[in-house]
Amino acid sequence: MKFFIDTANLDQIKEAQDLGVLDGVTTNPSLMAKEGITGEENIEQHYRKICEIVDGDVSAEVISTDFDGMVKEAEHLVTLHPQIVVKIPMTREGVKAIKYLNDKGIRVNCTLVFSAGQALLAAKAGATYVSPFIGRLDDISTDGVALIRQIVDIYNYYGFETQVLAASVRHTLHIIQVMEAGADVATCPLKPILGLLKHPLTDIGLEKFLNDHRNAGK
Ligand code: E4P
Repeated sequence: MKFFIDTANLDQIKEAQDLGVLDGVTTNPSLMAKEGITGEENIEQHYRKICEIVDGDVSAEVISTDFDGMVKEAEHLVTLHPQIVVKIPMTREGVKAIKYLNDKGIRVNCTLVFSAGQALLAAKAGATYVSPFIGRLDDISTDGVALIRQIVDIYNYYGFETQVLAASVRHTLHIIQVMEAGADVATCPLKPILGLLKHPLTDIGLEKFLNDHRNAGK
């Protein structure tokens, strides 16, 4: 399984990288805007900076919504750095673009996936990753983790190679749940990743070990 961090914040990406367990980064236009990164040149420069920090795949999303525009953007984005994976939205034009780009050897992360049917189309078109947004499903009283389980079952049954990238993962328990469901990747902000570290018995146990060591032989 892999951990991606879902942010465009360079400090948080560095912090996750320093932990030694980071496998990649996902971004989207909202996350770039949140960091105040605007303008084509700055955005491209930012993707390069992210790629220099991490070793793994970095998702960069297209802004176009038509086939020609998506393909043109994708072909340009992958020239920025070999780690770039192009994020294409799950639309009719998007599916056509995924198929075209896959045939050309360009790796795609199909984003904004909310159903098993959409995930099936992404896999058929040859996406490297499919990103079901589980938190946004939970937000509308629909079980996001159940969707991950369903997609994993379908992909396993038919032997699709598309990796299930659980996205919109909002908290630490979500990470455990999507891993139990068989997701290949979980992408989330830094906080839920750091949440995996925490257990009060670890803190209590460590304090006792250190105290016993200090008091030994007294
Ligand atoms: C995935 O790649 C998206 O960038 C992200 O996970 C969306 O998360 P959100 O629903 O918390 O905005």
